[in-house]
Amino acid sequence: MSQREAVVILDFGSQYSQLIARRVRELEVYCELIPYNAPAEQITRLNPLGFILSGGPASVYAKDAPHLPDVVLNSDKPVLGICYGMQLLTYHLGGKVDPGAEREYGPADIDIINADVPLFGRVEGRQLPVWMSHGDRVTELPAGFRPLAKSKNSPYAAIGHPERGLYGLQFHPEVTHTPQGKELLRAFLVDVCGCSGGWTAGNFIDESTAQVRAQVGSGQVVCGLSGGVDSSVVAALLHRAIGDQLTCIFVNTGLMRQDEPQQVVQTFEKEMHARLIAVDATEDFLGALAGVTDPEAKRKIIGEKFVRIFEAEARKLGQVDFLAQGTLYPDVIESASRDEQKVAAKIKTHHNVGGLPEDMHFQLVEPLRYLFKDEVRAVGEALGLPKEIVWRHPFPGPGLAVRLLGDITWERLETLRAADAIFIEELWASGWYHRTSQAFVVLLPVQSVGVMGDYRTYGNVAAIRAVTTDDFMTADWARLPADLLARVSNRIVNEVAGVTRVVYDISSKPPATIEWE
Ligand code: XMP
Repeated sequence: MSQREAVVILDFGSQYSQLIARRVRELEVYCELIPYNAPAEQITRLNPLGFILSGGPASVYAKDAPHLPDVVLNSDKPVLGICYGMQLLTYHLGGKVDPGAEREYGPADIDIINADVPLFGRVEGRQLPVWMSHGDRVTELPAGFRPLAKSKNSPYAAIGHPERGLYGLQFHPEVTHTPQGKELLRAFLVDVCGCSGGWTAGNFIDESTAQVRAQVGSGQVVCGLSGGVDSSVVAALLHRAIGDQLTCIFVNTGLMRQDEPQQVVQTFEKEMHARLIAVDATEDFLGALAGVTDPEAKRKIIGEKFVRIFEAEARKLGQVDFLAQGTLYPDVIESASRDEQKVAAKIKTHHNVGGLPEDMHFQLVEPLRYLFKDEVRAVGEALGLPKEIVWRHPFPGPGLAVRLLGDITWERLETLRAADAIFIEELWASGWYHRTSQAFVVLLPVQSVGVMGDYRTYGNVAAIRAVTTDDFMTADWARLPADLLARVSNRIVNEVAGVTRVVYDISSKPPATIEWE
Protein backbone atom coordinates (compact mmCIF):
# COMPACT_ATOMS: atom_id res chain seq x y z
CA MET A 1 0.00 0.00 0.00
CA SER A 2 1.19 3.47 -0.86
CA GLN A 3 2.94 5.51 1.83
CA ARG A 4 2.55 8.64 -0.21
CA GLU A 5 -0.09 11.16 0.79
CA ALA A 6 -2.87 10.94 -1.79
CA VAL A 7 -6.45 11.89 -2.52
CA VAL A 8 -8.71 10.00 -4.91
CA ILE A 9 -10.99 11.79 -7.36
CA LEU A 10 -13.78 9.57 -8.54
CA ASP A 11 -14.78 10.35 -12.10
CA PHE A 12 -18.50 10.37 -12.84
CA GLY A 13 -18.03 11.70 -16.35
CA SER A 14 -17.85 15.47 -15.92
CA GLN A 15 -16.08 17.48 -18.60
CA TYR A 16 -14.21 19.09 -15.69
CA SER A 17 -12.90 15.92 -14.02
CA GLN A 18 -9.33 16.32 -15.28
CA LEU A 19 -9.40 19.90 -14.18
CA ILE A 20 -10.15 18.87 -10.58
CA ALA A 21 -7.08 16.63 -10.68
CA ARG A 22 -4.93 19.44 -12.05
CA ARG A 23 -6.10 21.84 -9.34
CA VAL A 24 -5.36 19.34 -6.59
CA ARG A 25 -1.88 18.74 -8.02
CA GLU A 26 -1.31 22.51 -8.22
CA LEU A 27 -1.97 22.51 -4.49
CA GLU A 28 0.91 20.02 -4.24
CA VAL A 29 -1.22 17.09 -3.21
CA TYR A 30 -0.84 13.88 -5.19
CA CYS A 31 -4.14 12.61 -6.57
CA GLU A 32 -5.41 10.15 -9.11
CA LEU A 33 -8.54 10.39 -11.18
CA ILE A 34 -10.20 6.98 -11.11
CA PRO A 35 -13.40 5.87 -12.91
CA TYR A 36 -16.23 5.48 -10.37
CA ASN A 37 -16.66 1.81 -11.30
CA ALA A 38 -12.97 0.85 -11.12
CA PRO A 39 -12.05 -2.17 -8.95
CA ALA A 40 -11.89 -1.19 -5.28
CA GLU A 41 -8.25 -2.25 -5.14
CA GLN A 42 -7.30 0.56 -7.51
CA ILE A 43 -8.58 2.99 -4.88
CA THR A 44 -7.43 1.31 -1.70
CA ARG A 45 -3.84 0.82 -2.92
CA LEU A 46 -3.46 4.60 -2.70
CA ASN A 47 -4.58 4.65 0.91
CA PRO A 48 -6.35 7.98 0.25
CA LEU A 49 -6.74 10.65 2.90
CA GLY A 50 -9.99 11.75 1.27
CA PHE A 51 -12.25 11.54 -1.76
CA ILE A 52 -13.52 14.05 -4.27
CA LEU A 53 -16.56 13.04 -6.30
CA SER A 54 -16.66 14.73 -9.70
CA GLY A 55 -19.71 16.08 -11.45
CA GLY A 56 -21.33 14.12 -14.24
CA PRO A 57 -24.10 14.23 -16.78
CA ALA A 58 -26.38 11.65 -15.10
CA SER A 59 -29.38 12.03 -12.82
CA VAL A 60 -29.21 9.99 -9.61
CA TYR A 61 -32.60 8.40 -10.26
CA ALA A 62 -31.86 7.43 -13.84
CA LYS A 63 -31.65 3.76 -14.73
CA ASP A 64 -27.94 2.76 -14.79
CA ALA A 65 -26.95 6.01 -13.05
CA PRO A 66 -23.37 5.81 -11.78
CA HIS A 67 -23.44 4.93 -8.09
CA LEU A 68 -21.18 5.69 -5.17
CA PRO A 69 -18.85 2.73 -4.64
CA ASP A 70 -18.90 0.92 -1.28
CA VAL A 71 -15.26 1.72 -0.67
CA VAL A 72 -16.26 5.38 -0.27
CA LEU A 73 -19.49 4.72 1.60
CA ASN A 74 -17.75 2.44 4.10
CA SER A 75 -14.74 4.64 4.63
CA ASP A 76 -14.50 7.16 7.42
CA LYS A 77 -12.44 9.54 5.27
CA PRO A 78 -13.61 13.01 4.23
CA VAL A 79 -15.59 13.35 1.01
CA LEU A 80 -16.20 16.39 -1.16
CA GLY A 81 -19.00 15.91 -3.69
CA ILE A 82 -19.07 18.36 -6.57
CA CYS A 83 -22.34 18.87 -8.47
CA TYR A 84 -23.47 15.33 -9.40
CA GLY A 85 -21.05 14.14 -6.72
CA MET A 86 -22.97 16.16 -4.12
CA GLN A 87 -26.29 14.80 -5.35
CA LEU A 88 -24.94 11.27 -5.19
CA LEU A 89 -23.67 11.76 -1.66
CA THR A 90 -27.05 13.17 -0.63
CA TYR A 91 -28.95 10.33 -2.26
CA HIS A 92 -26.83 7.56 -0.77
CA LEU A 93 -26.94 9.04 2.72
CA GLY A 94 -30.74 9.31 2.73
CA GLY A 95 -31.44 12.84 1.46
CA LYS A 96 -33.51 13.82 -1.55
CA VAL A 97 -32.62 15.05 -5.03
CA ASP A 98 -35.20 16.44 -7.46
CA PRO A 99 -35.10 17.69 -11.01
CA GLY A 100 -34.61 21.46 -10.80
CA ALA A 101 -37.37 23.63 -12.29
CA GLU A 102 -34.78 24.95 -14.69
CA ARG A 103 -31.18 24.17 -15.47
CA GLU A 104 -28.75 26.47 -13.78
CA TYR A 105 -25.79 27.07 -16.05
CA GLY A 106 -23.19 29.80 -15.92
CA PRO A 107 -22.12 32.39 -13.37
CA ALA A 108 -24.05 32.76 -10.11
CA ASP A 109 -23.50 34.23 -6.67
CA ILE A 110 -23.75 32.19 -3.52
CA ASP A 111 -24.41 33.52 -0.03
CA ILE A 112 -22.57 31.76 2.72
CA ILE A 113 -25.01 31.11 5.55
CA ASN A 114 -22.76 29.06 7.76
CA ALA A 115 -19.21 30.32 7.53
CA ASP A 116 -17.98 28.60 10.62
CA VAL A 117 -16.90 25.34 9.00
CA PRO A 118 -13.40 24.25 7.92
CA LEU A 119 -14.39 24.20 4.23
CA PHE A 120 -14.99 27.97 4.29
CA GLY A 121 -12.06 28.77 6.57
CA ARG A 122 -9.92 30.17 3.73
CA VAL A 123 -12.40 32.14 1.63
CA GLU A 124 -12.85 35.87 1.88
CA GLY A 125 -16.27 37.52 2.07
CA ARG A 126 -19.74 36.11 2.53
CA GLN A 127 -20.81 36.27 -1.07
CA LEU A 128 -18.86 34.33 -3.68
CA PRO A 129 -19.12 34.33 -7.46
CA VAL A 130 -19.23 30.71 -8.65
CA TRP A 131 -19.82 28.65 -11.78
CA MET A 132 -22.95 26.51 -11.83
CA SER A 133 -23.79 23.74 -14.25
CA HIS A 134 -26.56 21.42 -13.13
CA GLY A 135 -30.12 20.28 -13.75
CA ASP A 136 -31.09 18.25 -10.66
CA ARG A 137 -30.72 19.69 -7.19
CA VAL A 138 -30.75 18.62 -3.57
CA THR A 139 -34.10 19.27 -1.87
CA GLU A 140 -33.72 17.43 1.44
CA LEU A 141 -30.53 17.00 3.40
CA PRO A 142 -29.34 13.67 4.80
CA ALA A 143 -29.27 13.31 8.61
CA GLY A 144 -26.54 15.38 10.25
CA PHE A 145 -26.01 17.70 7.25
CA ARG A 146 -26.43 21.48 7.41
CA PRO A 147 -26.95 24.01 4.65
CA LEU A 148 -23.76 26.07 4.27
CA ALA A 149 -24.59 28.35 1.32
CA LYS A 150 -27.49 29.20 -0.95
CA SER A 151 -27.92 30.74 -4.38
CA LYS A 152 -30.98 32.24 -6.07
CA ASN A 153 -31.90 28.89 -7.57
CA SER A 154 -30.32 26.46 -5.12
CA PRO A 155 -31.30 26.55 -1.45
CA TYR A 156 -28.47 24.10 -0.93
CA ALA A 157 -25.59 25.49 -2.98
CA ALA A 158 -23.19 24.07 -0.38
CA ILE A 159 -23.92 21.53 2.33
CA GLY A 160 -21.85 19.79 4.97
CA HIS A 161 -21.58 17.41 7.86
CA PRO A 162 -18.40 18.96 9.29
CA GLU A 163 -18.07 16.43 12.14
CA ARG A 164 -17.67 13.65 9.56
CA GLY A 165 -15.77 15.75 7.03
CA LEU A 166 -18.49 15.35 4.40
CA TYR A 167 -19.21 18.27 2.08
CA GLY A 168 -21.14 18.94 -1.09
CA LEU A 169 -20.88 21.84 -3.53
CA GLN A 170 -23.54 22.38 -6.16
CA PHE A 171 -21.11 24.57 -8.11
CA HIS A 172 -17.69 23.88 -9.64
CA PRO A 173 -14.72 25.02 -7.51
CA GLU A 174 -12.25 23.63 -10.08
CA VAL A 175 -12.98 26.13 -12.86
CA THR A 176 -11.41 29.57 -13.00
CA HIS A 177 -14.89 31.14 -13.16
CA THR A 178 -15.11 30.31 -9.46
CA PRO A 179 -12.35 32.69 -8.35
CA GLN A 180 -12.09 31.38 -4.77
CA GLY A 181 -12.54 27.76 -5.85
CA LYS A 182 -8.90 26.96 -5.29
CA GLU A 183 -9.14 28.14 -1.68
CA LEU A 184 -12.14 25.87 -1.14
CA LEU A 185 -10.18 22.94 -2.52
CA ARG A 186 -7.16 23.90 -0.43
CA ALA A 187 -9.33 24.01 2.70
CA PHE A 188 -10.76 20.58 1.90
CA LEU A 189 -7.34 19.03 1.27
CA VAL A 190 -5.41 20.66 4.09
CA ASP A 191 -7.92 21.46 6.82
CA VAL A 192 -10.45 18.66 6.29
CA CYS A 193 -8.34 15.77 4.94
CA GLY A 194 -5.18 16.78 6.80
CA CYS A 195 -2.89 16.71 3.76
CA SER A 196 0.43 18.42 4.29
CA GLY A 197 1.11 19.04 0.55
CA GLY A 198 4.64 19.25 -0.77
CA TRP A 199 4.19 16.97 -3.77
CA THR A 200 6.53 18.79 -6.12
CA ALA A 201 8.66 18.09 -9.17
CA GLY A 202 11.70 17.51 -6.92
CA ASN A 203 9.88 14.88 -4.87
CA PHE A 204 8.57 13.30 -8.00
CA ILE A 205 12.09 12.92 -9.40
CA ASP A 206 13.36 11.18 -6.24
CA GLU A 207 10.35 8.92 -6.09
CA SER A 208 10.31 7.92 -9.72
CA THR A 209 14.06 7.42 -9.88
CA ALA A 210 13.69 4.86 -7.10
CA GLN A 211 10.73 3.25 -8.86
CA VAL A 212 12.55 2.96 -12.18
CA ARG A 213 15.57 1.38 -10.47
CA ALA A 214 13.32 -1.13 -8.73
CA GLN A 215 11.51 -1.93 -11.96
CA VAL A 216 14.45 -2.45 -14.29
CA GLY A 217 17.05 -3.86 -11.92
CA SER A 218 20.12 -4.48 -14.03
CA GLY A 219 18.14 -4.70 -17.32
CA GLN A 220 18.75 -2.66 -20.45
CA VAL A 221 16.32 0.06 -21.53
CA VAL A 222 15.77 1.74 -24.91
CA CYS A 223 14.02 5.03 -25.35
CA GLY A 224 12.87 6.73 -28.54
CA LEU A 225 13.99 10.33 -28.54
CA SER A 226 12.09 12.84 -30.67
CA GLY A 227 13.45 16.12 -29.38
CA GLY A 228 10.10 17.03 -27.82
CA VAL A 229 9.65 17.72 -24.13
CA ASP A 230 8.13 14.37 -23.12
CA SER A 231 10.75 12.08 -24.58
CA SER A 232 13.54 14.41 -23.43
CA VAL A 233 12.26 14.37 -19.85
CA VAL A 234 11.92 10.58 -19.91
CA ALA A 235 15.49 10.26 -21.20
CA ALA A 236 16.91 12.66 -18.61
CA LEU A 237 15.00 11.02 -15.76
CA LEU A 238 16.05 7.53 -16.79
CA HIS A 239 19.63 8.55 -17.28
CA ARG A 240 19.63 9.91 -13.75
CA ALA A 241 18.11 6.66 -12.48
CA ILE A 242 20.04 4.01 -14.40
CA GLY A 243 22.90 5.73 -16.25
CA ASP A 244 24.42 3.55 -18.95
CA GLN A 245 21.68 0.96 -18.84
CA LEU A 246 19.76 3.43 -21.01
CA THR A 247 20.24 3.79 -24.77
CA CYS A 248 18.30 6.45 -26.66
CA ILE A 249 17.44 6.04 -30.31
CA PHE A 250 16.77 9.08 -32.46
CA VAL A 251 15.35 8.47 -35.93
CA ASN A 252 15.65 11.33 -38.39
CA THR A 253 12.62 10.83 -40.60
CA GLY A 254 13.58 13.65 -42.96
CA LEU A 255 10.26 15.20 -41.95
CA MET A 256 11.65 17.41 -39.22
CA ARG A 257 11.99 21.18 -39.17
CA GLN A 258 14.97 23.26 -40.25
CA ASP A 259 18.18 22.13 -38.49
CA GLU A 260 16.13 20.11 -36.03
CA PRO A 261 17.93 16.75 -36.33
CA GLN A 262 21.31 18.38 -35.67
CA GLN A 263 19.88 20.40 -32.78
CA VAL A 264 18.32 17.35 -31.14
CA VAL A 265 21.60 15.44 -31.26
CA GLN A 266 23.72 18.40 -30.16
CA THR A 267 21.46 19.35 -27.28
CA PHE A 268 21.26 15.76 -26.19
CA GLU A 269 25.02 15.32 -26.19
CA LYS A 270 25.58 18.59 -24.39
CA GLU A 271 22.89 18.27 -21.75
CA MET A 272 22.29 14.60 -21.11
CA HIS A 273 25.45 12.57 -21.64
CA ALA A 274 23.45 9.37 -22.16
CA ARG A 275 24.17 6.86 -24.88
CA LEU A 276 22.53 7.93 -28.15
CA ILE A 277 22.11 6.21 -31.49
CA ALA A 278 21.10 8.60 -34.27
CA VAL A 279 19.80 7.09 -37.49
CA ASP A 280 19.27 9.04 -40.69
CA ALA A 281 16.32 7.34 -42.35
CA THR A 282 15.35 10.23 -44.62
CA GLU A 283 15.60 8.27 -47.85
CA ASP A 284 13.68 5.36 -46.42
CA PHE A 285 10.78 7.59 -45.35
CA LEU A 286 10.67 9.69 -48.51
CA GLY A 287 10.78 6.57 -50.65
CA ALA A 288 7.85 5.05 -48.79
CA LEU A 289 5.87 8.29 -49.04
CA ALA A 290 6.45 8.94 -52.75
CA GLY A 291 3.16 9.65 -54.48
CA VAL A 292 1.10 9.34 -51.27
CA THR A 293 -1.26 12.27 -50.66
CA ASP A 294 -3.96 10.85 -48.40
CA PRO A 295 -3.37 12.09 -44.81
CA GLU A 296 -4.31 8.84 -43.09
CA ALA A 297 -2.16 6.84 -45.52
CA LYS A 298 0.78 9.14 -44.75
CA ARG A 299 0.33 8.62 -41.02
CA LYS A 300 0.09 4.86 -41.38
CA ILE A 301 3.22 4.58 -43.53
CA ILE A 302 5.23 6.80 -41.20
CA GLY A 303 4.08 4.96 -38.07
CA GLU A 304 4.94 1.56 -39.50
CA LYS A 305 8.25 2.63 -40.95
CA PHE A 306 9.27 4.13 -37.64
CA VAL A 307 8.51 0.93 -35.80
CA ARG A 308 10.56 -1.16 -38.21
CA ILE A 309 13.59 1.13 -38.06
CA PHE A 310 13.41 1.46 -34.29
CA GLU A 311 13.11 -2.28 -33.95
CA ALA A 312 16.11 -2.94 -36.19
CA GLU A 313 18.26 -0.52 -34.18
CA ALA A 314 17.11 -1.97 -30.86
CA ARG A 315 17.95 -5.50 -32.07
CA LYS A 316 21.52 -4.43 -32.74
CA LEU A 317 21.87 -3.62 -29.05
CA GLY A 318 21.48 -7.26 -28.05
CA GLN A 319 19.36 -8.12 -25.03
CA VAL A 320 17.01 -5.23 -24.26
CA ASP A 321 14.14 -5.84 -21.85
CA PHE A 322 12.48 -2.48 -21.45
CA LEU A 323 11.10 0.28 -23.63
CA ALA A 324 10.73 3.70 -22.05
CA GLN A 325 7.86 5.89 -23.26
CA GLY A 326 6.63 9.38 -22.54
CA THR A 327 3.00 8.43 -21.93
CA LEU A 328 1.24 11.19 -19.98
CA TYR A 329 -1.69 11.10 -17.56
CA PRO A 330 -4.30 12.48 -19.99
CA ASP A 331 -3.53 9.53 -22.34
CA VAL A 332 -3.94 7.13 -19.44
CA ILE A 333 -7.23 8.70 -18.36
CA GLU A 334 -8.45 8.81 -21.94
CA SER A 335 -7.77 5.15 -22.59
CA ALA A 336 -9.33 4.13 -19.26
CA SER A 337 -12.56 5.90 -20.12
CA ARG A 338 -12.55 5.24 -23.83
CA ASP A 339 -15.81 3.70 -24.92
CA GLU A 340 -16.78 2.45 -28.33
CA GLN A 341 -18.52 5.65 -29.25
CA LYS A 342 -15.43 7.73 -28.68
CA VAL A 343 -13.29 5.36 -30.70
CA ALA A 344 -15.86 5.41 -33.50
CA ALA A 345 -15.74 9.20 -33.53
CA LYS A 346 -11.99 9.27 -34.00
CA ILE A 347 -11.01 12.19 -36.17
CA LYS A 348 -7.38 11.44 -36.94
CA THR A 349 -5.15 8.52 -36.17
CA HIS A 350 -2.47 10.00 -33.95
CA HIS A 351 0.72 8.21 -34.64
CA ASN A 352 3.13 8.98 -31.96
CA VAL A 353 6.49 8.50 -33.56
CA GLY A 354 8.55 7.21 -30.70
CA GLY A 355 5.49 5.30 -29.52
CA LEU A 356 5.16 1.65 -28.76
CA PRO A 357 6.04 -0.83 -31.47
CA GLU A 358 3.12 -3.15 -30.80
CA ASP A 359 4.70 -6.44 -31.73
CA MET A 360 7.90 -5.92 -29.79
CA HIS A 361 8.07 -7.82 -26.58
CA PHE A 362 9.37 -5.16 -24.28
CA GLN A 363 8.16 -4.33 -20.83
CA LEU A 364 7.18 -0.70 -20.62
CA VAL A 365 8.78 1.93 -18.44
CA GLU A 366 6.48 4.96 -18.29
CA PRO A 367 7.71 7.29 -15.58
CA LEU A 368 5.44 10.15 -16.65
CA ARG A 369 2.19 8.22 -16.78
CA TYR A 370 0.72 10.04 -13.78
CA LEU A 371 1.80 13.53 -14.82
CA PHE A 372 0.06 16.33 -16.67
CA LYS A 373 1.97 18.26 -19.31
CA ASP A 374 2.67 21.26 -17.06
CA GLU A 375 4.06 18.90 -14.44
CA VAL A 376 6.31 17.26 -17.05
CA ARG A 377 7.66 20.72 -17.83
CA ALA A 378 8.27 21.40 -14.13
CA VAL A 379 10.14 18.08 -13.87
CA GLY A 380 12.16 18.98 -16.99
CA GLU A 381 13.18 22.27 -15.41
CA ALA A 382 14.03 20.59 -12.11
CA LEU A 383 16.21 18.12 -14.04
CA GLY A 384 18.05 21.08 -15.53
CA LEU A 385 16.94 20.65 -19.14
CA PRO A 386 17.31 23.81 -21.23
CA LYS A 387 14.28 26.08 -21.55
CA GLU A 388 14.19 25.62 -25.35
CA ILE A 389 13.37 21.97 -24.81
CA VAL A 390 11.11 22.35 -21.81
CA TRP A 391 8.94 25.09 -23.30
CA ARG A 392 8.95 23.91 -26.89
CA HIS A 393 5.71 23.83 -28.87
CA PRO A 394 4.53 20.28 -29.50
CA PHE A 395 5.39 18.79 -32.89
CA PRO A 396 3.32 15.94 -34.33
CA GLY A 397 4.87 12.49 -34.71
CA PRO A 398 4.38 12.40 -38.51
CA GLY A 399 6.18 15.74 -38.66
CA LEU A 400 6.07 17.95 -41.72
CA ALA A 401 4.33 15.20 -43.71
CA VAL A 402 1.00 16.45 -42.35
CA ARG A 403 1.92 20.08 -43.04
CA LEU A 404 2.92 19.43 -46.62
CA LEU A 405 -0.46 19.00 -48.25
CA GLY A 406 -0.28 16.80 -51.31
CA ASP A 407 2.92 15.16 -52.56
CA ILE A 408 5.90 14.82 -50.27
CA THR A 409 9.12 15.58 -52.11
CA TRP A 410 12.46 16.77 -50.78
CA GLU A 411 12.12 20.02 -52.70
CA ARG A 412 8.70 20.81 -51.24
CA LEU A 413 9.95 19.86 -47.76
CA GLU A 414 12.81 22.32 -48.12
CA THR A 415 10.41 25.09 -49.18
CA LEU A 416 8.20 24.36 -46.17
CA ARG A 417 11.17 24.24 -43.80
CA ALA A 418 12.47 27.59 -45.01
CA ALA A 419 9.07 29.29 -44.62
CA ASP A 420 8.45 27.69 -41.23
CA ALA A 421 11.88 28.76 -39.93
CA ILE A 422 11.12 32.40 -40.84
CA PHE A 423 7.77 32.33 -39.06
CA ILE A 424 9.21 30.78 -35.89
CA GLU A 425 12.17 33.18 -35.93
CA GLU A 426 9.81 36.15 -36.12
CA LEU A 427 7.67 34.78 -33.31
CA TRP A 428 10.73 34.51 -31.06
CA ALA A 429 11.96 37.95 -32.06
CA SER A 430 8.62 39.59 -31.29
CA GLY A 431 8.10 37.78 -27.98
CA TRP A 432 5.09 35.89 -29.38
CA TYR A 433 6.52 32.35 -29.31
CA HIS A 434 5.42 31.74 -25.73
CA ARG A 435 2.18 33.58 -26.19
CA THR A 436 1.11 30.90 -28.66
CA SER A 437 0.74 27.20 -27.91
CA GLN A 438 1.65 25.96 -31.35
CA ALA A 439 2.67 27.76 -34.53
CA PHE A 440 3.77 26.55 -37.93
CA VAL A 441 3.55 26.92 -41.70
CA VAL A 442 1.55 24.66 -44.00
CA LEU A 443 2.42 24.37 -47.68
CA LEU A 444 -0.72 24.08 -49.79
CA PRO A 445 -1.01 21.96 -52.91
CA VAL A 446 -2.28 24.87 -55.00
CA GLN A 447 -0.55 27.38 -57.21
CA SER A 448 -1.44 31.02 -57.30
CA VAL A 449 -0.59 33.93 -59.55
CA GLY A 450 1.62 36.74 -58.30
CA VAL A 451 3.70 39.59 -59.61
CA MET A 452 7.35 40.23 -58.78
CA GLY A 453 9.10 43.17 -60.41
CA ASP A 454 7.64 43.30 -63.87
CA TYR A 455 7.06 39.59 -64.09
CA ARG A 456 4.04 37.44 -63.58
CA THR A 457 4.76 34.57 -61.17
CA TYR A 458 2.86 31.38 -60.54
CA GLY A 459 3.89 29.77 -57.30
CA ASN A 460 3.08 28.14 -54.00
CA VAL A 461 0.71 29.30 -51.28
CA ALA A 462 1.90 29.05 -47.69
CA ALA A 463 -0.61 29.16 -44.83
CA ILE A 464 0.55 30.24 -41.41
CA ARG A 465 -1.18 28.84 -38.35
CA ALA A 466 -0.79 29.92 -34.74
CA VAL A 467 -3.11 28.82 -31.95
CA THR A 468 -3.60 29.32 -28.25
CA THR A 469 -4.94 26.45 -26.18
CA ASP A 470 -4.70 24.84 -22.75
CA ASP A 471 -5.31 21.26 -23.70
CA PHE A 472 -5.13 21.02 -27.53
CA MET A 473 -8.67 19.61 -27.51
CA THR A 474 -10.06 23.03 -28.29
CA ALA A 475 -8.03 25.96 -29.58
CA ASP A 476 -8.40 29.52 -30.75
CA TRP A 477 -6.41 31.19 -33.51
CA ALA A 478 -3.79 33.52 -32.10
CA ARG A 479 -4.49 37.23 -32.53
CA LEU A 480 -1.02 37.99 -33.86
CA PRO A 481 -0.38 41.70 -34.46
CA ALA A 482 -0.86 42.83 -38.05
CA ASP A 483 2.68 44.20 -38.34
CA LEU A 484 4.12 40.85 -37.26
CA LEU A 485 1.98 39.06 -39.87
CA ALA A 486 3.09 41.58 -42.47
CA ARG A 487 6.76 40.99 -41.65
CA VAL A 488 6.38 37.22 -41.81
CA SER A 489 4.53 37.39 -45.12
CA ASN A 490 7.07 39.76 -46.65
CA ARG A 491 10.01 37.72 -45.59
CA ILE A 492 8.54 34.42 -46.76
CA VAL A 493 7.63 35.76 -50.20
CA ASN A 494 11.01 37.43 -50.61
CA GLU A 495 13.27 34.81 -49.10
CA VAL A 496 11.64 31.50 -50.00
CA ALA A 497 11.89 30.70 -53.66
CA GLY A 498 8.63 29.50 -55.13
CA VAL A 499 6.24 30.95 -52.54
CA THR A 500 4.17 33.82 -53.94
CA ARG A 501 1.34 34.12 -51.46
CA VAL A 502 0.90 33.84 -47.69
CA VAL A 503 -2.44 33.42 -45.93
CA TYR A 504 -3.25 33.39 -42.18
CA ASP A 505 -5.50 30.63 -40.87
CA ILE A 506 -8.21 32.16 -38.67
CA SER A 507 -10.13 28.99 -37.84
CA SER A 508 -10.67 27.85 -34.28
CA LYS A 509 -10.87 24.23 -33.13
CA PRO A 510 -13.58 23.06 -33.41
CA PRO A 511 -14.65 23.10 -36.17
CA ALA A 512 -11.14 23.04 -37.68
CA THR A 513 -8.35 20.92 -36.21
CA ILE A 514 -4.98 22.44 -35.35
CA GLU A 515 -3.08 20.63 -38.09
CA TRP A 516 -4.45 20.83 -41.62
CA GLU A 517 -4.27 17.08 -42.17
P1 XMP B 1 -5.30 18.31 -34.19
O1 XMP B 1 -4.76 18.56 -35.55
O2 XMP B 1 -5.97 16.96 -34.06
O3 XMP B 1 -4.03 18.25 -33.25
O4 XMP B 1 -6.16 19.43 -33.68
C1 XMP B 1 -4.04 18.29 -31.85
C2 XMP B 1 -2.59 18.18 -31.39
O5 XMP B 1 -2.06 16.90 -31.74
C3 XMP B 1 -0.95 17.04 -32.61
N1 XMP B 1 -1.04 15.98 -33.62
C4 XMP B 1 -0.33 14.85 -33.58
N2 XMP B 1 0.61 14.43 -32.69
N3 XMP B 1 0.87 12.45 -33.93
C5 XMP B 1 1.21 13.23 -32.90
O6 XMP B 1 2.10 12.82 -32.13
C6 XMP B 1 -0.07 12.80 -34.86
O7 XMP B 1 -0.37 12.05 -35.79
C7 XMP B 1 -0.68 14.07 -34.66
N4 XMP B 1 -1.63 14.75 -35.36
C8 XMP B 1 -1.83 15.93 -34.69
C9 XMP B 1 -1.07 18.43 -33.20
O8 XMP B 1 0.19 18.92 -33.61
C10 XMP B 1 -1.67 19.20 -32.05
O9 XMP B 1 -0.69 19.55 -31.10
